[in-house]
Amino acid sequence: MKANVITAHGPAAKVFEMQQVADPVPTEYDLIVKVLTTSINPLDCRIRNKASVPRNFPLTLGFDVCGVVVEKGRDVTGFEIGDRVIGSPTPFRNGANAEYVAIDHRSCTWAGTLADATAAAIPLVGITAYEALFDRLRIRSGDWVVIHAGAGGVGHLAIQLAKNTGCRIITTASRPESLAYCANELGADHVLNYREADIAGAVMDITKGRGAGLIMDNAGGECFSRSLDYVSPNGHICTILPVAVDEQQGYQLLLKNITLSYQFMGDRRSGDRRSGGRIAGRQNAAHEENRQGQVLQKLVEMVECGQLRPHVSKIYDWHDLAQAHEKMERGHVSGKLVVRVTN
Ligand SMILES: NC(=O)c1ccc[n+]([C@@H]2O[C@H](COP(=O)([O-])OP(=O)(O)OC[C@H]3O[C@@H](n4cnc5c(N)ncnc54)[C@H](OP(=O)(O)O)[C@@H]3O)[C@@H](O)[C@H]2O)c1
Repeated sequence: MKANVITAHGPAAKVFEMQQVADPVPTEYDLIVKVLTTSINPLDCRIRNKASVPRNFPLTLGFDVCGVVVEKGRDVTGFEIGDRVIGSPTPFRNGANAEYVAIDHRSCTWAGTLADATAAAIPLVGITAYEALFDRLRIRSGDWVVIHAGAGGVGHLAIQLAKNTGCRIITTASRPESLAYCANELGADHVLNYREADIAGAVMDITKGRGAGLIMDNAGGECFSRSLDYVSPNGHICTILPVAVDEQQGYQLLLKNITLSYQFMGDRRSGDRRSGGRIAGRQNAAHEENRQGQVLQKLVEMVECGQLRPHVSKIYDWHDLAQAHEKMERGHVSGKLVVRVTN
């Protein structure tokens, strides 16, 4: 099959190459999906630049897919050849910048009535937003939630999910169009410009001096470290970035009884290379192995009934992946960049 692979780590303009590669072979739980659309995530750029685990080349990126099932493994249940499905292929195998991709059926669902582009915009960011808000932060109606980077792929779905739950939202952005998008389209209650505003002061004012009880950190770095100043006592910060705290910050967290949690949407995925397809030490493992498929199903239904509006800001042809990566790497995408895989 054809795949737009990377041949080494390096700048997007240098490492993408359209190649003939071996067709994916399904494990017992896999679907082989003919790719219609995929999307770009910052993770693609991270792996392209430097992988946290050694990778073999040529390597195919692309960790979202909407496509049609053409083959299935022995233990696949529920899906049939010809079904149009969506999912997030594990980043520990080859991805969807290719004619075909293998994906564990337990983290897939049907695309329903969604357009191919909309469908590919959902899986990775949607599961991340859902798990961070409902599994880690455990948001409830009436909560104030700070959701950073509100106009981004994760943020724009997170704001909508939290608003639908009845939460009040404080978010951050910098470009005029993303500030307006967060306020007018997503309905955030307060939108702060992270380049100009005193975020800690503003959050303390908005919360009448209590501080933010729930913070979803979608930006890391300074955004994360500043949040330690305005998280309320007994609050919870959930970060989706690999941030670390030093001893002084540890004291800040300790003295306020803060819960700090990390959200990685890859961790429960069967087929994940670290778990060998099983979830060690958990009860109800079979249920949890299907969980991401179930989450995706809920997200698709929300889109179908107009409760969730994924924003596709641009669609690229897969021959133009290098440009799409360069755009993503500049860090100012609104919603999602989708890629159409064509012959
Ligand atoms: N743990 C996981 O499972 C997981 C899953 C998905 C993503 N992630 C990570 O989470 C991050 C966000 O992902 P994404 O897909 O939402 O990225 P994205 O779509 O590229 O995010 C772009 C948005 O971030 C905003 N932004 C940039 N710097 C910011 C800052 N310092 N403070 C607040 N907002 C800022 C930009 O707003 P303006 O343009 O207005 O400045 C832009 O709208 C990435 O680092 C990604 O690798 C982790």
